[in-house]
This record gives sequence, structure tokens and C-alpha cells, in this order.
Amino acid sequence: MTTLTSYLDQHSTNTELNDVITTVTNVGKTISQLLRKGALADILGEAGNQNVQGEDQKKLDVLANDLLLDALAKNTHCAGVASEELDNATPANADGSLLVLFDPLDGSSNIDINMAVGTIFSILPYQRQGQTSENSDFLQAGNQQLAAGYLLYGTSTVLALTITENVVMFSLDPDTGDYVLIEDNVQIDADTSEYAINSSNYRYWRAPMQQYIDELIAGEAGVRGRDFNTRWVAAMVGDVHRILCRGGLFTYPFDTKYAHKAGKLRLMYEANPMSLLIERAGGGATDAVNRILDIEPTDIHQRVPVVLGSKNEVDYVKDLHVNYSEK
Ligand code: F6P
Ligand code: MN
Repeated sequence: MTTLTSYLDQHSTNTELNDVITTVTNVGKTISQLLRKGALADILGEAGNQNVQGEDQKKLDVLANDLLLDALAKNTHCAGVASEELDNATPANADGSLLVLFDPLDGSSNIDINMAVGTIFSILPYQRQGQTSENSDFLQAGNQQLAAGYLLYGTSTVLALTITENVVMFSLDPDTGDYVLIEDNVQIDADTSEYAINSSNYRYWRAPMQQYIDELIAGEAGVRGRDFNTRWVAAMVGDVHRILCRGGLFTYPFDTKYAHKAGKLRLMYEANPMSLLIERAGGGATDAVNRILDIEPTDIHQRVPVVLGSKNEVDYVKDLHVNYSEK
């Protein structure tokens, strides 16, 4: 049996990174326990606040955020923290070598209906050790990430992690409190017949995305010549997990629903960590055309269109967009 602790010891000589991953995943155990208690822990419903994106915060969003923030502030290797729930990054320990970004509770509209939610995290190097970290220190492309992962609080709690070229998965043993290795080299098939999109936004998409979904819905009767199936968890962490397990395409594309937003998902603590996991598992991750991991961020909360998953399908979407813009 390989636990997370022994895996980190064996595969990473960066003990500071290992320590920060241990802090994040330990908080994940607490969040997992709170979710298991559900309504009994008095964590459901609205907290009465709005986050920086103007969305209502759930009680557990706030709690998960505070738990991660407190734990990371005490970790001497963590120089600063950026979260979906915080307007600005919070400095931690100036001598730390690492910056941690997270979405404390992804898919939070799922909490009150007892459906899957998760914690997504990304770890970047800190370049100005000894000085207090600022928002601008976090503005590094996703290809700089030292580690990325998520905790999925589903029927069981699973940790997906990449610190090497491999993507690995652990399952939380509720009896021992250990994360136990269940997959040591996750790989995504290049082809798939499953896709995830919120089709209710159809009228707000660009023409090539509308064409793509039209083709998938036409199935055997259309140009694709085979049928496709839809799945939508309404928590990115759940859709990405399904894709790591059995392939598929996930997209939250560019839309014109909200004029000032390029898409719904956030680059730095949603798209980047998920893209690193997906690419290292052999899949693709783009904004429809460009590689997400190469985007130079300008704002810690910036949004980005996301198309990720089975490689051939991600490339197919890209071709449709490139051909359309060349017409
Ligand atoms: O974090 C944003 C998010 O909750 C994702 O986890 C999820 O994929 C998406 O929004 C769900 O969006 P919608 O409400 O449009 O289904
Ligand atoms: Mn989210």
C-alpha cells in the first residue's frame, strides 16, 4: 500500500512542496468530514455574502476557504495564497518559496443537493523570497506550476495530483485517514463519444462552437457518423474527474452572456491546474484555439474559455475554430 506521504517521499525531493501539498490535503480531510455530516454540521445554505465575482457564497465555501487560508498561513513554506473567495491574494510567510492558489469549493451549487463538489489547487514558485508577496507575484503562466491537483468529495473522496510527469490518484480511507494510491499513471484515450457542456447557453456561443455541438447532436446521421452522449455534473471537478477516468470532452466556451466575461471559469485556480492534469494524462486543454497553460495572466481572477479532455476531440474543436476564422 502506498500512501500520499510515502508517494511524496519517493517521487519528490522538494520537501517544501511536499509539505504544502500535505497541508492542503489535510484540510481536504476536514472538508470531507464536514460534507459527510451535511445538514447536521449546519454548513448548508447561504452565508449572506457575495464573492468577488458577485456570486452568493455558501456557508461551506467560506468555511473551506478559511480552513485552507489558516492552515497555509501557518506553513512556513507558503509565501502567499490566492483564492476564488478573496478579492486580493493574502501574503503568508515572506521566506516561503511557494504560492498556493485554490478554488476552495468548486461546484458549490451542488452542496445543498448532496452532489459532488471539490477543492482545486495550483502551486507556483515564489520568485521574491524574503519580501511580502503581492497579487503580481501570482501572475505566472500555468506552465510554471510545480504541482496541481484536486480533491473530489464524491461518493468517496479522491485526490488527483501531478508533481512529476505522471498524474496519480489517491482514495481517502475514512477508517485510517490516509490517502491511498489507486492509480499511478492516469491516461486519457485520444478518442471519445462523451461530452460535457451547459447547452442552455447555446445562443450565446460563437458559430464554430454551435456547429460543433450541432454535429455531436446529429450523431450517426451527421458528419461525425457516430452517436455522442452528454454528461454534466455542474462542478468542473466532477466533469474533469470523469474525463480522467474514462475520457471525454469538457467545455465551458466563450459566450456573450455577460459582456465583460470571456467565459465562466477562472484561469488561475480552475483552468490551469485542470489543464496540467489533463495534459499530463495525454489529453488537450485549450481556450478553443490556444494552449491554456501558455496564457500569460493579467489578473488573478481572470476568466478563460475552456475546452479540455480527449486529445482528438480537443483538436477537432480547434480546427473548427481556426477554419472558421480563416473563412
Ligand atoms: O466554478 C464554476 C462552476 O461551478 C464549475 O465548477 C462548473 O463546471 C460550472 O460552474 C457550472 O456552470 P453552470 O452553472 O452553467 O452549469
Ligand atoms: Mn469553481
